[in-house]
Amino acid sequence: MKIGFFQFEPRFGAVEENLERVLSGLHHVEADLVVLPELAFTGYLFEDRREVMSLAEDPAGSMTVETLKRFCHEQDIFLVTGFAERHGNKVFNSALLIGPGELVHTYRKLHLFSTEKEYFDPGNTPLEPVEVRGARIGMMICFDWAFPETARVLALKGADILCHPSNLVLPLCQQAMVTRCLENRVFAVTANRIGSDSRPRGTLHFTGQSQVVTPDGEILHRSTEDREELYVAEIEVGIAKNKKMTEKNDLFADRRPLFYTPLMEKK
Ligand code: ACM
Repeated sequence: MKIGFFQFEPRFGAVEENLERVLSGLHHVEADLVVLPELAFTGYLFEDRREVMSLAEDPAGSMTVETLKRFCHEQDIFLVTGFAERHGNKVFNSALLIGPGELVHTYRKLHLFSTEKEYFDPGNTPLEPVEVRGARIGMMICFDWAFPETARVLALKGADILCHPSNLVLPLCQQAMVTRCLENRVFAVTANRIGSDSRPRGTLHFTGQSQVVTPDGEILHRSTEDREELYVAEIEVGIAKNKKMTEKNDLFADRRPLFYTPLMEKK
């Protein structure tokens, strides 16, 4: 299976321009699945909820989603993309799995980062892997990396590949995702953006270094901090089905859930 990411710099508020950039960046790509950054079409650093609402789209009537569905059909490809999702009077920081001619699945970010809490509603969709060409895809978004339960639940539910649209500003996640892969024996594609959002409330700089990591914790490729890149790797998905770390240790069978009950309590 061929999986990868497109690292680029969205321009804040320029939804159509960002869509064009993605379409031209992925022109003639040969892959089964490509992951795009978090909030790939709107940009990240919103002023307030009103501004998010004005840029977010309901996937049901979205020109962006219609264009991507058509693109996936023409290129015979699946995409996971960050998306500002409007749903009635709510607005979510979401990831969409789009395939040839259809929107397959929506995940709404569970763990909002910093100022996102001011203007996004917290996610309310279950962590549920979806099958794509024989692989089970689990979606998580950026700061979800800091809550290992996210990757664990997806892996326990059968995810082989974590698709991880990101807009990272801290220099911590890329190494942490190596551990997420090792402890769950899954692949992970972290698609980060580059460049900055300079807005009235300040400037945020994003750290690039998108990557693909294997269940053995090998970084197949890590991009630069500041250059656009389309990267695709051929992977053997079956490796992620074997949860053995040693001959006598299976990472799932050896778990002791009776001792993990505090995980179910809210502090
Ligand atoms: C983040 O969750 N965008 C850091």
